[in-house]
Amino acid sequence: MNHSQSKELFARNRRFIPGGMVSLNRRVEPEIAFVKGSGAYVWDLDGNRYIDYHAGFAPYLLGHGAPEVEEAVKKSIADGWTLMGSGTTPWEGRAAELLCECVPTLDKVQITTTGSEATYHALRLSRAYTGRDHIVVMQGGYNGWHDEVACNVMTPLEALGPKVSGGEYPWKPLTAGIPEQVQSRVHVVEYNDLEAVAWVFENYPVACLITEPILQNIGIVKPRPGFLEGLRALCDKHGVVLVFDEVKTGFRHALGGYQSIAGVRPDLATFGKAIANGYPLGAIGGKAELLDYFDHPDPSKRVLIAGTYNGHPVTIAAAIATMEILLREKDTIYPRLEALGARMQAGLEKAFASHGIKATVARQGSAFCAYFMDHGPLNWYDLAQHHDMDFDGRYRRALVDRGVYHFPLPTKQGSISTAHTEADIDLTLEITEDILSAGL
Ligand SMILES: Cc1ncc(COP(=O)(O)O)c(C=O)c1O
Repeated sequence: MNHSQSKELFARNRRFIPGGMVSLNRRVEPEIAFVKGSGAYVWDLDGNRYIDYHAGFAPYLLGHGAPEVEEAVKKSIADGWTLMGSGTTPWEGRAAELLCECVPTLDKVQITTTGSEATYHALRLSRAYTGRDHIVVMQGGYNGWHDEVACNVMTPLEALGPKVSGGEYPWKPLTAGIPEQVQSRVHVVEYNDLEAVAWVFENYPVACLITEPILQNIGIVKPRPGFLEGLRALCDKHGVVLVFDEVKTGFRHALGGYQSIAGVRPDLATFGKAIANGYPLGAIGGKAELLDYFDHPDPSKRVLIAGTYNGHPVTIAAAIATMEILLREKDTIYPRLEALGARMQAGLEKAFASHGIKATVARQGSAFCAYFMDHGPLNWYDLAQHHDMDFDGRYRRALVDRGVYHFPLPTKQGSISTAHTEADIDLTLEITEDILSAGL
């Protein structure tokens, strides 16, 4: 596959953008400059077409440029929905109402521009509400780029070191520039380890525990039976706010989020990504007694939420359209995504088995990840110990070279949209069969 024009653009962009691209979590090999997306496909500058499973890091549940969402965006512009930045608007009220309708555990919501802002506010609200400072995060979970949560996502085991007291893991920041003191109030535990959570709760003044209900930034790492319920019980016992970060799971797995599938009610939940099918919108919602801290009558307890672009009308229009489509067609959309996901899983399992490759395909609905190990991972430690990362890297790279854009970084989730067809899945499986036959 020719990427010469992509290469040239990277070289040009490097003059003005460090790394040559916006957001360096997008830096992978091969270096590709993308120019167009439509439905289940994306195109690069050299004219190559890919079946897209990256979905822009997962927002595209309805496919790139979903017509009804794009129409709503155009209409919002034509109707003069500009950014007011004062008072309220009918459209932000409608989006909030829809969110509460889609996710029954939400009494109230606030709207942000990104998922990271939503998780940031979840920490702040929890601290204001409990009067405590410490937080618990999951190793292998990603909850945004801000100081307190930017740690321990894919930390190599050599860098991680052994468990410390009570089952906690050493805090390993994802970035330079985080103040040293942050570390003392962030506790990192392994996902699916209730004992470690209990120990931290017993030993520190914890404001909140934040977790993706399924770890979807290291593939698809599912809660073992009773884990989410156990978190709920421990949070209740210790007065800790339970935050489900549904930025990736929300709207993708069910209208009511993964919490509606698990049947566990968090105190707060954060959303983003699929909520606006590719437009930048985040949300934080949950129990009124917590959300009302944003408007607390006592100024010393009131939690600041501000953002010039919060509730931007164009992104709000996209979110309203997306949620209206999902509400109207949920009985066909989610079963269809499940069927496409199951087709992908069965086909991949068959292909790996027929080539004698040790693999486990983990999946929740339309989100999938192949692990090259003999079981689905329990947590990051298990995954890092057993998954063949090098093979995964070669497998993804070969897919990209054959026109299947599965993000070429080991363990990254594949995302199917309603724009994918059975034929797209079958072609992906044929290509998988070809690359396995050719040898990796
Ligand atoms: C679970 C989860 N939470 C939070 C975020 C941060 O969202 P954003 O990138 O919109 O700030 C992400 C982004 O990948 C995510 O996957």
